[in-house]
Amino acid sequence: MALIPAVFFLLWASTASQAHGNKPNFVLLMADDLGIGEVGCYGNNTLRTPNIDRLAREGVKLTHHIAASSLCTPSRAAFLTGRYPIRSGMTGHDGGYLVLMWSAVSGGLPTNETTFAKILQEQGYTTGIIGKWHLGVNCRSRDDFCHHPLNHGFDYYYGLLYTLINDCQASMPSEIHVAFRAQLLFYAQLFAVTLLTAMVTKRMGFLTVSWKVLVIFASVGIIYFAYWYVAYEFLRYWNCFLMRDFEITEQPMDLETTAGKMVNEAKSFIRRNKEGPFLLFVSFLQIHSPHFTTEKFRGKSKHGLYGDNIEEMDWMIGEIIGAIDEEGLVNNTLTYFTSDHGAYLEGLHPAGRGFNGIYRGGKGIGGLEGAIRVPGIFRWPGVFPANTIIDEPTNLMDIYATVIKLGGGKLPKDRIIDGKDLMPLLQGVDSVSSHDFMFHYCTDQLHSVRWYQKSNQTVWKVHYMSPKFSPEGAGACYGTKFCSCSGNGIILHNPPLLYNLSGDPSEKNPFPHDVGPYREVVQEIEQAVANHKISLHPVPQQLYRFNNFWHPRLQPCCGTFPLCWCHKE
Ligand SMILES: *[C@@H]1O[C@H](CO)[C@@H](O)[C@H](O)[C@H]1NC(C)=O
Ligand SMILES: *[C@@H]1O[C@H](CO)[C@@H](O)[C@H](O)[C@H]1NC(C)=O
Ligand SMILES: *[C@@H]1O[C@H](CO)[C@@H](O)[C@H](O)[C@H]1NC(C)=O
Ligand SMILES: *[C@@H]1O[C@H](CO)[C@@H](O)[C@H](O)[C@H]1NC(C)=O
Ligand SMILES: *[C@@H]1O[C@H](CO)[C@@H](O)[C@H](O)[C@H]1NC(C)=O
Repeated sequence: MALIPAVFFLLWASTASQAHGNKPNFVLLMADDLGIGEVGCYGNNTLRTPNIDRLAREGVKLTHHIAASSLCTPSRAAFLTGRYPIRSGMTGHDGGYLVLMWSAVSGGLPTNETTFAKILQEQGYTTGIIGKWHLGVNCRSRDDFCHHPLNHGFDYYYGLLYTLINDCQASMPSEIHVAFRAQLLFYAQLFAVTLLTAMVTKRMGFLTVSWKVLVIFASVGIIYFAYWYVAYEFLRYWNCFLMRDFEITEQPMDLETTAGKMVNEAKSFIRRNKEGPFLLFVSFLQIHSPHFTTEKFRGKSKHGLYGDNIEEMDWMIGEIIGAIDEEGLVNNTLTYFTSDHGAYLEGLHPAGRGFNGIYRGGKGIGGLEGAIRVPGIFRWPGVFPANTIIDEPTNLMDIYATVIKLGGGKLPKDRIIDGKDLMPLLQGVDSVSSHDFMFHYCTDQLHSVRWYQKSNQTVWKVHYMSPKFSPEGAGACYGTKFCSCSGNGIILHNPPLLYNLSGDPSEKNPFPHDVGPYREVVQEIEQAVANHKISLHPVPQQLYRFNNFWHPRLQPCCGTFPLCWCHKE
């Protein structure tokens, strides 16, 4: 008889703990462009990252953690939706762009994509994002905010809707469309000379076209060049502004105070919501160029401004985990740290070149490990073991399934979710990852595929194409901004190259074509690619030219367009 009340008590207790209280908080920390070779606990002993290292000491460090893309916009889209960016139309493409290029573009994370924040919001979570977004703003007007974080499941936003770029720092040379701008200048001069010549010859009676035609020619040209002049001349105003929820607070932003403001925002979000449950996504502006670093950290690292910038970010992380500790939330908070993709090897200038440790390739080179293998640290004392290293293949998209499950939500059933629940692996219940295949795109081109052959405990990777590196074999394209993903800039591998990543993580020695398992492995992967391709459906492309150039009518503006500036705080 005593058994029945006991069973009821257990049932009651388990539903009660699900209904309130015991839902964990989530603090997700994402660096921008940080390489796996640039973190202390991943082997860098010349940079100081004590706070990231502390998270690893108190939790689980993943050494085979893979980003879904090697560039910001697609990688972040995948992170938030748990789906390969090709499923949401958030990949770049040939003849288009690689990422969103302005804040005033109509492309962005489609409104019918469901972020983990949206699902957690429905589960009673207060959700916030602080920092970089880079997933679009508006669709049709200056303030419809269709792609804004507040329309994608976040209750609170503070930060930079676009991304840090050199143009945000007045003293730096511009980095946006540099080649195109040089062309524009040339054509503007050509246009001016042609127009002047036409007017003079007309005046002298040698030209037979009417004045009306000349006026139309002049007007079209002037409007065209004036449009680009305004777009580029005031780029800092158009792209580098801070916003709180739907309100611009600083246009252009003051870089010297941004890091401090972001830290304060993150701490105050944690304090405001300590009764929980909450989800806070801190998306750092570091360590994207221009590597602007506040005075306190300038000149302090062994790696110039680049290293200073990393150490500044580590300090910010220390402040944020400090707030979790101070509020007594540590045992009820899953804290995660990662980077959106590998470090940028080409750099805009040599001092800004990143480092991906033993892995070949970097930002933008979708198929190589250096582009996509990133730090991944999970801390949740009492739930995850401390000081533990897991070398099983995992993906940034897995966060989606993991936090939704922990928050009591359900994965959307009407679409494919590529991420997998990491809890069994992180808690040590499973020792083997649930991933079999991962597909590595460079824009919309499938460059390589990873296969975890569990029966042989081997992670294979096949390369179908790779960029023509310069110099050859460098794993980077020095002297250009990015390697190509298709066309003349790539080499097709037919038959494909195969690597045993388990034994050759630097992808140096292709497995011989005529030896042992080559055929079997390549065939198995071929089949997985075919199945993957069947699962893809055409969707509207968000980064195509027309969706991805400056639309003045979509320009977020503090003031009356085009006079956009303010400093409210
Ligand atoms: C640490 O990271 C810096 C910055 O990328 C890099 O230059 C340096 O080589 C790395 N040091 C080690 C020991 O890995
Ligand atoms: C967190 O849990 C650990 C044991 O897992 C305990 O030692 C520690 O005191 C707890 N901290 C707080 C703030 O509750
Ligand atoms: C791949 O490399 C690992 C580590 O060197 C080795 O244990 C494994 O046997 C290799 N797999 C094959 C199929 O050669
Ligand atoms: C995997 O291992 C089995 C034996 O354990 C072997 O027969 C098979 O050829 C291996 N496959 C590959 C692709 O290495
Ligand atoms: C979102 O809408 C687009 C355009 O109608 C459609 O192609 C796509 O499949 C939709 N995505 C989802 C996840 O429903």
